[in-house]
Amino acid sequence: MQTRAIPSSNESLPIVGLGTYRGFDVEPAQPACKNLPAVLDALFDKGGKLIDSSPMYGRAEQTVGELLSIHEPRSPAFLATKVWTRGREEGIAQMEQSFALLQTDRIDLMQIHNLLDWQTHLPTLRHWKEAGRIRYIGITHYTASAYEEVEAVLKAEPLDFLQINYALDDRGAENRLLPLCRERGVAVICNRPFGGGGLLAKLKDKPLPGWAAQVGVKSWAQLALKFLLSHSAVTCVIPGTGNPRYMAENAQAGFGPMLTDAQRQQLIALVG
Ligand SMILES: NC(=O)c1ccc[n+]([C@@H]2O[C@H](COP(=O)([O-])OP(=O)(O)OC[C@H]3O[C@@H](n4cnc5c(N)ncnc54)[C@H](OP(=O)(O)O)[C@@H]3O)[C@@H](O)[C@H]2O)c1
Repeated sequence: MQTRAIPSSNESLPIVGLGTYRGFDVEPAQPACKNLPAVLDALFDKGGKLIDSSPMYGRAEQTVGELLSIHEPRSPAFLATKVWTRGREEGIAQMEQSFALLQTDRIDLMQIHNLLDWQTHLPTLRHWKEAGRIRYIGITHYTASAYEEVEAVLKAEPLDFLQINYALDDRGAENRLLPLCRERGVAVICNRPFGGGGLLAKLKDKPLPGWAAQVGVKSWAQLALKFLLSHSAVTCVIPGTGNPRYMAENAQAGFGPMLTDAQRQQLIALVG
């Protein structure tokens, strides 16, 4: 899989990761849980690394931790999770719990979920980064109504990552946030790359463009991810799934040529 440099460190990050919002919020007794080891295998087999979770996602952190602890060979995961609460002590307690649930003593990326009480959590994150408990610091959001605040924080604070909603039919981040991240040297993770699934439902009856095979694409999911990855400010996409077949399909978007501007414009015209 292709990689891109995290601007603040120059470390290479594979460009397709995994979101765990719904797919990994499952109890061990649920039938869906049986598919999850194969989802991680599909990610790692293709060279992917980034797994994104949050205390907001029910049992997802615990499920990820349990599966990685028994994964052979030792997993190459780049673990990203979030703090999603108010108050310094509450934030510390929640993040300590994430370390325990993920069964790790180092989290690669700790993000402030939806900017909730960010002024309070940022000093803790900076302190933990200095101490080596976390490697990178980020903020996240998922809606255009928050872009002004996201922009203000990006301008005011040195950050390693922004995680933001960006999809073929949800392109508001292109206006100011993506150029600002490029200018400030902030890595960009695209969340909700399929608009939670709605984008793929919209596209499913449309034929793929004639040039799809030339860019190594066999499905709308792959094309929707390549659209995002063809923006020069984007570092990684994290489509959410609990389905190994989808994970393998999505990871394949990290291979082969990216899209030209003309191809991107054609896709934009298609979704309106
Ligand atoms: N504020 C925040 O920080 C924030 C907000 C939203 C999301 N996120 C993160 O971003 C990740 C991605 O967002 P999301 O999960 O909400 O939405 P998404 O990735 O846009 O869409 C997920 C949906 O797409 C389906 N899907 C995945 N791959 C597919 C494929 N190849 N073909 C057909 N359908 C496919 C999944 O189906 P199945 O469920 O059947 O696999 C699921 O219903 C989340 O999991 C989470 O980690 C963060």
